Amino acid sequence: MTGQRWSAVDYGAHGRFVSDLGSPVLDLVAPQPGERILDLGCGDGALTAQLVARGGVVVGVDASAELLVAARERGLDVRRADARALPFVEEFDAVFSNAVLHWIDDLEPVLAGVRRALRPGGRFVGEFGGHGNVAAIATSLRAVASRRGWPLTLPWRFPTVDEFEAQLVAAGFETSGLWLIPRPTDLPSGMADWLRTFANWAFRDAPEPERRAAFAEAEELLRPSLCDARGRWTADYVRLRFAARRPPGPSPGAQ
Ligand code: BEZ
Repeated sequence: MTGQRWSAVDYGAHGRFVSDLGSPVLDLVAPQPGERILDLGCGDGALTAQLVARGGVVVGVDASAELLVAARERGLDVRRADARALPFVEEFDAVFSNAVLHWIDDLEPVLAGVRRALRPGGRFVGEFGGHGNVAAIATSLRAVASRRGWPLTLPWRFPTVDEFEAQLVAAGFETSGLWLIPRPTDLPSGMADWLRTFANWAFRDAPEPERRAAFAEAEELLRPSLCDARGRWTADYVRLRFAARRPPGPSPGAQ
């Protein structure tokens, strides 16, 4: 567990760029009318709704009850599930996932569950944080913690293309493309709101005034590199985009 808490309000106000920038991944999934699609880590359903609008018959799953409430308000079929224990067997033509896999420490059970959820030949397409993602932000949090002698374990894993491709292959997928894409991302509401929305797991054990001071210090450390002269912030995002499929035909060893 990461300790990260998701607020549908904060996410809607300060994290909307995550779904706004998801169109290239939707294009890569290319849902065909009537295809059954699983949205793994659907959050508040912004991209799930776009998969539906493109003709998919979509089920969304997420671990956050609060974000699922927001997704249901969009009229979507969403369920609460742990990505490491997906309950589906050969139900989907495609599994889609955006900005989720970097939150999960051990991807092995996730990839096994995705493969099981796909019909033979089904596609697994997605994007998440790749090697070097939010490196400056992570370093600022480490620096602030280290100055205070506080422990800090980042809850994110940002693999290289080679590392993630090896994991996909070990889980029984065929890959058709993996790309590491630097994508500096404007933060219209600034770094303090980004930290509040996406790094609220940090410094949890500290008293509130010290915690606030620690986040303010991280923001000041970041200002010279991520904030321009007009006060506009950019996050140092790097995306790992991938397209893979479960091979057609029965699994080796299947009866
Ligand atoms: C990301 O989408 O890359 C991300 C979001 C929050 C924290 C870390 C990374």
